This record gives sequence, structure tokens and C-alpha cells, in this order.
Amino acid sequence: MCGITGYIGKKIATDILVDGLKRLEYRGYDSCGVAGISPKSELYLKRVSGRVDALDALIAKDPLKKGVVGIGHTRWATHGVPSEDNAHPHTDCNKQVVIVHNGIIENYLDLKGRLLKTGHKFKSETDTEVVVHLIEEKLKTLNVSGAAARGAILEPVFFEAVRRAIAELQGSFAMAVLWAKCPNMLLAARQHSPLVIGLGDGENFIASDVSAFLKYTKKAVFMNDGEIAAVKADSVSYFNFQGKKLDHSPVTIQWDSTMAEKGGYKHFMLKEIHEQPESVENTLRGRLLPLNGDILQQEINLPSELIKNIKGVQIIACGTAYHAGLVGRYVFENFGLPTSVDFASEFSDRAKIVNKDILVIAVSQSGETADTLYAVREAKASGGKVLAITNTLGSTLTREADFVLYTHCGPEIGVASTKAFIGQMAAMYVLAIHFAVIRKNIFEADARKYVDEFLKIPRLIEDTLAGEGAISKVAECFAQSEHFLFIARHINFPIALEGALKIKEISYVHAEGYAAGEMKHGPIAIIYKGMPVLAIATTSKMLSLVANNIEEAKARGAEVIAIVDEDSRKIIKASKYIVVPKTLEILSPLLTVIPLQLFAYFVALSKKCDIDKPRNLAKSVTVR
Ligand code: G6P
Repeated sequence: MCGITGYIGKKIATDILVDGLKRLEYRGYDSCGVAGISPKSELYLKRVSGRVDALDALIAKDPLKKGVVGIGHTRWATHGVPSEDNAHPHTDCNKQVVIVHNGIIENYLDLKGRLLKTGHKFKSETDTEVVVHLIEEKLKTLNVSGAAARGAILEPVFFEAVRRAIAELQGSFAMAVLWAKCPNMLLAARQHSPLVIGLGDGENFIASDVSAFLKYTKKAVFMNDGEIAAVKADSVSYFNFQGKKLDHSPVTIQWDSTMAEKGGYKHFMLKEIHEQPESVENTLRGRLLPLNGDILQQEINLPSELIKNIKGVQIIACGTAYHAGLVGRYVFENFGLPTSVDFASEFSDRAKIVNKDILVIAVSQSGETADTLYAVREAKASGGKVLAITNTLGSTLTREADFVLYTHCGPEIGVASTKAFIGQMAAMYVLAIHFAVIRKNIFEADARKYVDEFLKIPRLIEDTLAGEGAISKVAECFAQSEHFLFIARHINFPIALEGALKIKEISYVHAEGYAAGEMKHGPIAIIYKGMPVLAIATTSKMLSLVANNIEEAKARGAEVIAIVDEDSRKIIKASKYIVVPKTLEILSPLLTVIPLQLFAYFVALSKKCDIDKPRNLAKSVTVR
């Protein structure tokens, strides 16, 4: 993970870099730093253990030199504890070359051993530092001092040194490198970690994600694996790792920079919870009708023949996206298509079950999750076709998958995923309904009924959100509990898992999601007097069984908080009720998840937790 920024132009680089780092903090936030080159070609650097605000405050007190080229980094530790020494940027022995890196250099110990023998001195425990020393070594072999003495232009030397160093690296990296002797050029390289170039007017940017530079430009080039970019103030050139020049056309990003701001909400998470009606609406827009599948064919180029011929679906994803996959399984199977779901990180050994008869659906908000990308590669190697559901234009997943269906949720900044989850579920319904029609597993008239009800969902989410005040009061009553159990059956079981995950992520308390029917086979033992049990008990064919499970929990002293609709409210006996509007059972997860997100949010708020940046987590996990 980690966030990278780079700038070259006419403005003071540090301001732009720090501002960009603030927007990338969701990628990691245990330490950070910036470096640049002054007009007198001096390399300067500032790092802190902690957040970007601390770096900003330090720079305000002790300003850096005013260079117009620089690089920045916000870190999520992999090798080496979070500390100032391990914070990026890292420099070579002579403090001439400086680097920021995201990813893992797998052969760093071998390289470090070699570099130590040739006299390099290391100042950190990171894998990254070997890269900067390796570049220093390559510069030596390219006889820089000789080249400088001869007045040779140093840019090709710098490029070649970085290129040769990269050739020795194994693992994943996105990096930006600066050399004090060559202040008019920044080098950026990418291998299995995201990197995007922002193209401005007389200025250019490097970042892990477009949100870092959207304020300045919407024109971007997403780098591919195996590429180096030579970034100058008025031009960018692209090369492969063999040094061959490449052509790239920029894309225009539709997101607005204000979309990545809090807009009056206390936290991004709360703002994003409130954006969910729009997330569903945007993900559905223009995609449901006509039902004959033309839309899928035109938009994502998914041939009807493939849909007709597949024998099953395999969903792979991580974290919250995995829960969307579990909902997807119920939806696809409801329409007669056998579906399996796996954590991407557990998929390896099962990849061999994939063949041309199985459509693999990879779900990922960021499109950069390393576990998901590896699983996709394995599935493709076994002969599977991969359809990506993602929120991120230009992400690695979009380039590796055969087909892409975007969720149009806008940037999600809160580390705990909310609106992206609802968008992923919405995308599953869109696909499942179309597949069912194309495979003739449903009559069009029946599909129409689902579509009509589905189109009401954004308004019903708004109604659910209107209950926020009541939900916050319930959450406050239980905010000091150390354990929470979430139970539900059938299509709402993944929502119980998601409810438990949300509260774990942002409140750091123990929470378990369980299939309500399974509770009696084990977890019932942990119930104690006063323990909060959140039960999803909306109208369904399973309701009477859920009611039994609620009674079982109450009999052991649980305080049951029931998520009900107006009809099931009459049947369920609980300590507290949270009422959501009634909809079709199959669509109910789109509503029942809302109070659980809000519940988690208000528990975390009462506990004064850092809601948008929970400890130990990162939004996009680009290591395996
Ligand atoms: C991280 C985040 C989770 C997210 C998961 C998958 O662990 O903290 O919130 O659900 O990655 O992310 P993706 O971008 O692939 O959906």
C-alpha cells in the first residue's frame, strides 16, 4: 500500500505534495515525508512518524527550501516498524538520490547483502532503501563524475541507472526517484503497484491515485506494469523496462476534486453512508432496461453466447467486497446459476477448478488489491474469463480482466467501505437479472417486477437514512460493550458478516457475524447477560426461524436489537428495534446494511475512535 506523490513544475512543490498526501492518507498513515531539490540543486527532506498533519505542522514551523520538484510518501508499514527512520523518502549514502516506493522488494535481503559488501551504509530497516543504494551503485558504474566533467547531459545517465537498478528487482513496486544532479526530471516506475501521471499545463504530477492531483488536472495516464516515465515540467515520456519508447494517450477523469472532500460531514464514512442512494442510482442508471442484455453487450462487451453457455460463476474478492460477493451468490443462485465465492487470498488452490464454463467475477473497489489481482491471474491461467466489478477507472484490475462493469460510486475515502459495498451489490443484481433473462431462467415479465422494485431502492435507502437519529441512540446504549454478535439467515447472512466487520474495523471491539441457524451450534456459548445481539429479522420465508433464534439468544440474557420492517416488527420480540422499509426479500440487503453501517459509525463515535483512518488498516492493500 502506501501513497506516493510527485510534482514538477513552477509552483512550490512541498505544498502540492503535502496536499496530495492528505488525499492519499487512506492508503496508509503510520509515517510520511517529502523531499525535493532546491534551485541550487540541494536535496532537502523532512519525515515524521505519524500523520500528514504532523508533517504539515513541522514544515510550517521549520520551512523547507522552495524547490519546484519533489516527491512525497505516506506509509503503511510492511518491512520495518513505523518510525521516522523507516519513513520515506529514503536517500543514498551521499544524499544525492532520493526515492519513495510502494510495494515489496522480495529480494531486498540479497541486494542489501551485496550493497553492504561494497560499502553502502543503511539508515533504515526498509526494503525500499536498497533500491536507492542500488541506483547510486549504477550511477557509479555509469561513471557519472566523468560524464559530469565532460558536461554530458545527465538525464540519459539517470534514466539508465534507474532502469538497470529496476532490472535487478523482484517483487512489486511503484516508485518515484529524484537525483539532485538532474533536477529537471523525475523518474517513475511501475510493477504490480498502481501509479498514475497527471498532465498539467507546464507542470506534471505522479501519484498512486488520481485524487492526489484532481485539484490541478483531470488529464491522466495510468501506467502499465513494466513501464518507466520520465516526467519533466512540460513533457512526459514513457518507456518499457528495456528502454524502448512507448506511446500513451491520456484519459479524462470524470471525478470532481470536491467529491473527495467531506462536504460538511464530520467524517468521510458518514458522508459516504449518506451518498448510498446515489451510488445505487448511478450504478443502475441506464443498465436495467432493455432486459435482453443489449446493455451488457454494448457497455461491457460481454457476449450473450458466453452468458448462455456458462455452467457457473466463481466470485473472488477481499474484505467488504467479499461480502458483496456472498450476496451475489444468493442472487445468482436465486436465478438458477450455481455460484461459489472465495476470499481471493484463499483461491490459489481452487483456481484449477476454473475453465471456460465458469465465469469468474472479481469484485474490488480499488481494483488494486494484490490478493484479488493474483487470484485473477490464476483464474485466467486456468482458462477462465474474468469480469471485474470495480469502482476505479484505469485500475490494474480493469486492464487484466476480460470485461469490466463499473460501480459508479465516486471516490470512497473512508477506510471502512460503505458506498462501494452497496454499489457492488447493485452491480451483482444488474448482472444476475440480465443473465437470468438471457439464459431464459426467468420470464421477462417477472424480471420486470424485480426491476420495478429495484428502481425504488434509492428512495428506500433515503427513508432508511432518515432513521439515523434513532439508530445513534441505540448505538450509544451499547457503545461500551466489548462483544457484539450479528445474526441473520440466507441473503442477509452476508450483511451480518458485514455489520460485524464494520464495527471491528472502526471500533476495535470483538464482533462476530453468524448464520442465525448456526448460533446454537457454538457461538450461543459466548452469550452473557446484557450482550448485544443484532438480528436481521425483516420479512422473509425464514422469519419464523429467525424469530426462534432471537428467542434462544434472549433466553441466555442477550439484549436483542432487531432490524425489522413494519410487518416483521409485529412478530419479533426484541429489546430494541430499528425499522427499515419493506422490499422484496432478495433486495433487502440493500436496506438492512444501512442501519448496521450507522450503528458501527455511532459506536465508534462514542468511543472517540479515528473513524476514517482506523488503526492498522489501509483502504487499498497492494501486498499479499
Ligand atoms: C482493505 C480495506 C477493506 C476492503 C478490502 C478490499 O482491506 O480495508 O475495506 O474491503 O481492502 O478492497 P477492494 O479495493 O479490493 O474492494
